Amino acid sequence: MKRDILSILDLTEGELRNLLDEAERLKRMRKSAIPHPLLPGKTLAMIFEKSSTRTRISFEVGMADLGGCALFLNAQDMQIGRGEEIRDTARVASRYVSGVMIRAYRHDTITEFSRYSSVPVINGLSDLEHPCQILADIMTIREHFPRLEEVRLGWAGDGNNVCNSLILSTVLTGMEITVATPKGFEPPAKVVEMAKKRGGKVTLVRDPESAVWDAHVVATDTWVSMGTEKEREARLKAFKGFTIDKKLMGMASPDAIFMHCLPAHRGQEVTDDVIEGPGSVVFDEAENRLHAQKALLVFLMKDGE
Ligand code: CP
Ligand code: NVA
Repeated sequence: MKRDILSILDLTEGELRNLLDEAERLKRMRKSAIPHPLLPGKTLAMIFEKSSTRTRISFEVGMADLGGCALFLNAQDMQIGRGEEIRDTARVASRYVSGVMIRAYRHDTITEFSRYSSVPVINGLSDLEHPCQILADIMTIREHFPRLEEVRLGWAGDGNNVCNSLILSTVLTGMEITVATPKGFEPPAKVVEMAKKRGGKVTLVRDPESAVWDAHVVATDTWVSMGTEKEREARLKAFKGFTIDKKLMGMASPDAIFMHCLPAHRGQEVTDDVIEGPGSVVFDEAENRLHAQKALLVFLMKDGE
């Protein structure tokens, strides 16, 4: 039966561990220029309703590395953009390709696609989750702190898609997360409840200081996610005081790393000296998108797996 990854919790703890081990192996092979064509003849369709740099490049290069190919499809150029139904597009695409990655405004669009698709569907970011980002994030955290169950994460910023997947991922890794948001920008209650119900250690606070205090990982994301541009002015005002600067980083553990999914807005959610500073791992994090997603593609699309 086909598997989809619409949420980070579509993986089990064991699957996540194996997938990250495989990602590390693929990373080593790529760095040693050892070919690893594990998906010959396979095609991934990539449907984008929103902009992308990392997701598009890493999936496209990833499929090429694996001996397959990827199709970039701008939703606006497809018949979806003129009202063709998702359920028809999903059934048509399933006749041509071996897997589909979708970046959509509404999570429901991806859920609907997966319901009608007979090939694996990957969430490439929705308003609710960004599971591919979190695979790369956990891979990056493991490179610095191999004992994930001892890791304390501090998030200061928007309780958005990236934050949601990070919260849910604690169920699989045992990491502890404290999330600080201004009032009105908390992660959805259903996400926090789901994580807690399944054993996740999640704490919501108001002040960024409490979130980052003694944390091994300090993370944030843009204050103005794609689709919220109309709220820009109100958001910039609401998030005042949430900028990750040197003072805030100084409250974290001395060996703390700074993470951001990118794109970043220097002077807003993070200062230039932090993102360019010694603790910043944002470019390793971006690179790991490639390795983690290649492992995911092999997991979902390899014959007989
Ligand atoms: N982090 C991330 O998903 O980046 P893109 O929007 O550039 O794909
Ligand atoms: N939260 C951001 C992530 C971008 C990769 C957004 O949704 O725009």
